[in-house]
Amino acid sequence: MASLTSPPQISRPNTSQLQFSKQLHHRSSFNNNKISRVGFQIRATSEIIKQEPDLSVTVNGMKMPNPFVIGSGPPGTNYTVMKRAFDEGWGAVIAKTVSLEADKVVNVTPRYARLRAGANGSAKGQIIGWQNIELISDRPLEIMLKEFKQLKEEYPDRILIASIMEEYNKQAWEELIDRVEQTGVDAIEVNFSCPHGMPERRMGAAVGQDCVLLEEVCDWVNAKATIPVWAKMTPNITDITQPARVALKSGCEGIAAINTIMSVMGINLDSLRPEPCVEGYSTPGGYSSKAVHPIALAKVMSIAKMMKSEFNDKDYSLSGIGGVETGGEAAEFILVGANTVQVCTGVMMHGYGIVKKLCSELSDFMIKHNFSSIEDFRGASLPYFTTHTDLVHRQQEAIRQRKAIKQGLQSDKDWTGDGFVKETESMVSN
Ligand SMILES: Cc1cc2nc3c(=O)[nH]c(=O)nc-3n(C[C@H](O)[C@H](O)[C@H](O)COP(=O)(O)O)c2cc1C
Repeated sequence: MASLTSPPQISRPNTSQLQFSKQLHHRSSFNNNKISRVGFQIRATSEIIKQEPDLSVTVNGMKMPNPFVIGSGPPGTNYTVMKRAFDEGWGAVIAKTVSLEADKVVNVTPRYARLRAGANGSAKGQIIGWQNIELISDRPLEIMLKEFKQLKEEYPDRILIASIMEEYNKQAWEELIDRVEQTGVDAIEVNFSCPHGMPERRMGAAVGQDCVLLEEVCDWVNAKATIPVWAKMTPNITDITQPARVALKSGCEGIAAINTIMSVMGINLDSLRPEPCVEGYSTPGGYSSKAVHPIALAKVMSIAKMMKSEFNDKDYSLSGIGGVETGGEAAEFILVGANTVQVCTGVMMHGYGIVKKLCSELSDFMIKHNFSSIEDFRGASLPYFTTHTDLVHRQQEAIRQRKAIKQGLQSDKDWTGDGFVKETESMVSN
C-alpha cells in the first residue's frame, strides 16, 4: 500500500460523544443517540503521536478495545472458545450462526478443504485458500442462549454479537430475535449469506441474493429488534451494493461483508472425485482465507462508497471480512472505510493469540503514518478509487504535462506568470 502524501482531513468524535452509554443498548434510544463523529476537526501531526495509538473503536454505540472481531464460525461455537477470545483480547465476538431448530442442521465430514500455494499445491506450501461446506450451528438453541447469557454476565463490558438465520417465516424470525435479545447480547448480525445448505428452506444466501425477499425479511427483523442489527452480505452476487442498500434502507445499523465465496476446491486427479469428498460426492462450498482478501477488499470498498454517498456515514457501520491474518490487511479494510475487521479462518489456522500480533502490527502501521486513532485514517484511501475512464484521462493529462515540461517553451509568447519558475527550469540542462 503506497503512502498517502496528504491524508484527507477527517473529523472524529469528542470525548463525551465517545462515552459508551447504556441507554444506547436499547434500540429506540439508540436511534436518538447516534454516535456522531462530527466533534472537532483534527489533522494527524507528529506532535500528537508521542504515545501508543488508540486502537479502540465505538460502533453503533458499542465500545470495543480494538477493531478486531471474531467472525461467525468455528471460533465462536461455544462458551469455552468465546471466553478464550475475550481473554486473549478480541475487540468483540460474533457467535456461530444460530436458528430455532438445530436438529434440522446436519453436518458432514470431511467438510473442509485447503488450497496451498506452491508447485501443484505441494503439502509444504502456505495455506492460502480454505473451503468449507459447514452449516450453521448444530447445537441446541437453548444451550447457545444459556452460554450467551453466561458470557455477558461474566464479561459485561465486552461486546458479544449473536449471528442469526431463519426460514422465510415472520413468526420464526420474531421468536428468534426475542429469545436472542433476552440473553443480553449487544447486537445481532443477520446471516443473509451462508452460501451452501438449506436454500430449499429459503435461508442465508437465498435471501441475500434476492433483494425483494431481503427487503421483506429485513423489515421483519428491524421492526422487532431493539438492539443494533448488522446485515451480513454474500459476495455471490453481481452487485453487492444492492442488497447492502436494501438492508440499510430497511433500518439495519451496519453491514458486514463478505461471507464466503462459492467455490469448488478441486478434483482429485486419481479418483476423479471432487473435494471435499463425502462418500464419493461433494457440493460447492464457501471459500475463505488469504486468497479471498482482494475480492473482499473490492466488495467492502464498493459498499463503503455507496454508504458514503447515499447514507449519513456516522449513523452506520461497516465490518470488513475476508482473509485477514496481518495488521496490514486489517488496515487495508479500514482505509477503504471499515469500522471493524472480522477474522474467522485466520483464527482457525493460527489460534486466538493472533489478535496480539494483529494489534501490534496495526499499531506499527499507525505510528508510521502518525495516526493516533482508527478514525484518523478510516476511509482515507476511498477517494483514490475512480473509474477506468477517469484513469485514462488522468494519465493522458499527466503525459501531456510531462511532455510540456520536457519540451520547454516553443516561443516567447508561451511564458506565463504562474508557471514562470517551472517554465524556466524546464529549459535548464542540468
Ligand atoms: C468453517 C467456517 C464456518 C463458517 N460458519 C459461518 C457461520 O456460521 N455464519 C456466518 O455468518 N459465517 C460463517 N463463516 C464465514 C466467516 O464468518 C467469514 O465471513 C468468511 O470465512 C471470510 O472470512 P475469513 O477469510 O476471515 O474466514 C464460516 C467460515 C468458515 C471458514
